Amino acid sequence: MPQNPTTRKRVTTLRLIEMKRAGTPIACLTAYDALSAAIMDQAGIDVLLVGDSVGNVVQGHDTTIPVTLEHMIYHTQAVVRTVERAMVVTDMPFMSYQASPREAFRNAGRLMKEAGSGAVKLEGGERVVDAVRLMTENGIPVMGHLGLTPQSIHQFGSYRERGNSEDEADQIKRDAEALQNAGVFAVVLEKVPAALAAEVTAMIDVPTIGIGAGPGCDGQILVWTDMVGMSTEFRPRFVRRYAELHDVMTDAFKRYADDVRTRSFPTQDESY
Ligand code: KIV
Repeated sequence: MPQNPTTRKRVTTLRLIEMKRAGTPIACLTAYDALSAAIMDQAGIDVLLVGDSVGNVVQGHDTTIPVTLEHMIYHTQAVVRTVERAMVVTDMPFMSYQASPREAFRNAGRLMKEAGSGAVKLEGGERVVDAVRLMTENGIPVMGHLGLTPQSIHQFGSYRERGNSEDEADQIKRDAEALQNAGVFAVVLEKVPAALAAEVTAMIDVPTIGIGAGPGCDGQILVWTDMVGMSTEFRPRFVRRYAELHDVMTDAFKRYADDVRTRSFPTQDESY
């Protein structure tokens, strides 16, 4: 039975796999702070990813590379404080899982124990399966991430889509299979052709969560500040804008500044 998003029962890895089997699409967004996470949770979003995109969105970096494990712990703690129903997944930042499976395991443990996350996500396929297996065999749920993997930006040199060539598509399929065998509960597919994403979705038993990967995935994720239109510059075609908050906020800030400057704020009623 698909779960009614107004039911406040916590979304679990098992629930996500049931949703895939039932053909119920999974709605996911990124979250970085307590207030917006609470709004998303109340609105019925199933999975909140404390993404390392916090590096771009909150910290103002060009890439996700500078984000640290401490940053991810801090933002996850804020998100889990207000979320009741959604599953909270935390990104493992660059260099928190690449050096060795043991180090990856310890760092994932910190995200679960100190930050209170429900699961971790890491980028890569066959090259990270030893780390993934160590985690999943010891009680840490893991979400995979294939296709465009932003932490490898300096290796690839661009944020172009992945999986267009036969070689890249075959590697993505092998990676998805390897991640599933290592025990992941879901796989993010970022910026891959819709047909390839649909093929991977049919091939594996765990849900695929697409971002720029077409309608054939089991769920979708967007960076929340993109889908509410907070930035004017970043407008890729895979982002549907559900609001124009940049304009709404600019207007509010300007009117506030005018009111302060003309002394029409605060009034007597707004004073003690
Ligand atoms: O960090 C992030 O926001 C992500 C999503 C784009 C999937 O990894």
